[in-house]
Amino acid sequence: MHDRLTVVAGNSHPALAAAVAQLLEIPQCQAHVGRFPDGEIDVKVYDDLRGADVFILQSTCPHVNDHIMELLLLLDTCRRASAGRITAVIPYYGYARKDRKDEGRVPISAKVVANAICGAGAERVLTVDLHAAQIQGFFDIPVDHLYAKPVLMEYLRTLKVNDPVVVAPDMGGLKRARAYAESLGASVAIVDKRRFDGEKVDWQQMIGEVKGKEALIIDDMITTGGSMVQAVEIAREKGATKVYALATHGVFCKDAVARLKSSSADAVMVTDTVPVPGDLPAKFHTRSVANLLARAIRAIHSSESVSALFKET
Ligand code: R5P
Repeated sequence: MHDRLTVVAGNSHPALAAAVAQLLEIPQCQAHVGRFPDGEIDVKVYDDLRGADVFILQSTCPHVNDHIMELLLLLDTCRRASAGRITAVIPYYGYARKDRKDEGRVPISAKVVANAICGAGAERVLTVDLHAAQIQGFFDIPVDHLYAKPVLMEYLRTLKVNDPVVVAPDMGGLKRARAYAESLGASVAIVDKRRFDGEKVDWQQMIGEVKGKEALIIDDMITTGGSMVQAVEIAREKGATKVYALATHGVFCKDAVARLKSSSADAVMVTDTVPVPGDLPAKFHTRSVANLLARAIRAIHSSESVSALFKET
């Protein structure tokens, strides 16, 4: 058991940090994470951290590079302030899609970021729905990898779907789709997606039956919306009666929100692992991961099993 529990937040997601601190019934640590006139990041923590069990909550969104740098400086601050243990709580871990060298002369960005986080002083990482589970191995420290599935399932149960099919928008999402299908007693289909570059995707075909069924398309993230919108349209074209678009991380860059709004999705649902825009159209729904994170933090603090907490009831 470590000393007192402390939550420190960067600027990426103050609302989520506040919600987590409130659920943990602790005041948020007083800190300043600002900017010097030249744009460099200026960090000062006002509360005493000596011996504390510190959880630094910082998503790598909406400003991925700035927010990673803030996280690194916060980690260094806590280490130099003699914190007892430091956990980086990263609800959305960016740069995760570059997790292998799949062509010549490209970086493995997910590993570079992991190295930086460990090097700056993180002793543990708590994160949600990594793009690829094996990224855990990029850290030589314990990683608690939470799944947002209980949060998405809570929303799915409100839909009362009839004859559902869970659709993986690409081959990489098959395992996730199977897990949801198992919980829902649904079948599975896969969109055979081909990606040309960061923005252009093209689907080839739907593998599996969606005709006459309600399609639940589940992805780890929506970035430009390209993958999701194409999956929605192919599901509709192949005869799905309703189409729901769900993802853990609603990164929504460029015109993703407008594209999804004008798509034939009946509803779009994301969690708040990244800040949720305040003006989302009516068919967008969100659910918070605050409770999931707070429960995991509480368990880590008291050296209890994290996985046991999230077994579906
Ligand atoms: C890809 O492998 C991911 O799981 C997502 O499907 C993808 O990153 C979403 O990006 P976008 O919204 O830009 O298509």
